[in-house]
Amino acid sequence: MSNQDHNLSTVVNTSMGSYPVIVGRGVIDNLGIELHKTGQRGRAFLIADEVMFPNPVRRAHEALERGGFKTDVLALELGEFNKNLDTVNTVYKWLAELHAERNDIVLAMGGGVTGDLVGYAAATWLRGVAVVHVPTSLAAMVDSSIGGKTGVNMPNGKNLLGAFHQPKLIVQDIEHLKTLPAREMSAGWAEAIKHGLILDSNLLDKFESMAQQMKTLDGDEPIKAIRRSVAIKGQIVSSDEFETGDQRVLLNYGHTVGHAIETVTGYETFLHGEAVAIGMMAAAGIAQRIGLINSELVDRQKSILESYNLPTTATNLNADAIISATKSDKKSRGGTIRWVLLEGPGKATTRKDIPDDVVLDSVQSILS
Ligand SMILES: NC(=O)c1ccc[n+]([C@@H]2O[C@H](COP(=O)([O-])OP(=O)(O)OC[C@H]3O[C@@H](n4cnc5c(N)ncnc54)[C@H](O)[C@@H]3O)[C@@H](O)[C@H]2O)c1
Ligand SMILES: [Zn+2]
Repeated sequence: MSNQDHNLSTVVNTSMGSYPVIVGRGVIDNLGIELHKTGQRGRAFLIADEVMFPNPVRRAHEALERGGFKTDVLALELGEFNKNLDTVNTVYKWLAELHAERNDIVLAMGGGVTGDLVGYAAATWLRGVAVVHVPTSLAAMVDSSIGGKTGVNMPNGKNLLGAFHQPKLIVQDIEHLKTLPAREMSAGWAEAIKHGLILDSNLLDKFESMAQQMKTLDGDEPIKAIRRSVAIKGQIVSSDEFETGDQRVLLNYGHTVGHAIETVTGYETFLHGEAVAIGMMAAAGIAQRIGLINSELVDRQKSILESYNLPTTATNLNADAIISATKSDKKSRGGTIRWVLLEGPGKATTRKDIPDDVVLDSVQSILS
């Protein structure tokens, strides 16, 4: 196995083709070579969150040119506030001015906002051109870059416009995380820990015993944990691409109450991963109350999340408001909520028949 193969975390298999996810230190320098290996031959249109300027973008640009790709670069200020069609239009205009063609490649370099927005532009430009993700936030690495969901917000709600558009390649350079703010790192760890909780007790053990190394990103363990987390997301997407089966739904662990908390706080108090951490505590409370798990696992989950500086309770929120927000979550079909619950460490299941008083009691338990 060559050094480069060593960085291959997983291959995601989808109806739009298979793609590798490369995870390692300094792997951005292989971006062009890896892209060439996928068989893509067009011009490269690199669209980056301006926080990645100048050095990381320059390295990506140079790597693409070394791989034989003539490259143009667009820097955008990107955030939830402008994850909308106006910004997509800016991207379209740029692609139009530079005559981007059907066989050209659009690359998204940034956090989940960049990936979703640039992915959406790529899905629609000339009815769809190739997209490559270079996620630079931990949340985007372990979660949003994998799976082909793209989209932008409307004034009426988040991610209302979107398309499934699978990438040709994902390259994740751990070095990029060095500049990511600590709170954003923790929020990313929440999703990675979630993967351990729902599907991999060994990964959960690592998160528990190695919190210090994980947080400093020193040594091999953090890379291994990110690779494993990426592989779990990749496997789930491969087995249940459109969330029609019973696999992809498991990724919603903690998200029913998490989304509700984001809604009632107007998306201003918590980062997504923080809300999910609190939501996972509510879900653990439900699982304990109906006898699926014991209090030890609830306490263990809590202490793991706390060791990554994640919140496990929320203050000044109303339980009824949270519960009514869970009912309007777009993932609840026909009004019945499909709760994702643990039945053991690394083992998740779903339940639809949770009594209202159990939900109320569990939600109250996470409000302090
Ligand atoms: N497509 C999916 O399957 C999926 C899944 C989950 C979330 N999402 C979407 O992802 C978005 C959230 O993603 P996010 O948490 O990455 O948010 P984000 O893209 O806003 O990034 C978080 C912050 O970190 C900054 N940043 C990113 N990388 C950096 C780096 N290396 N150094 C310094 N700063 C950096 C960004 O500028 C931003 O301020 C939401 O819009 C959400 O809807 C999509
Ligand atoms: Zn999430």
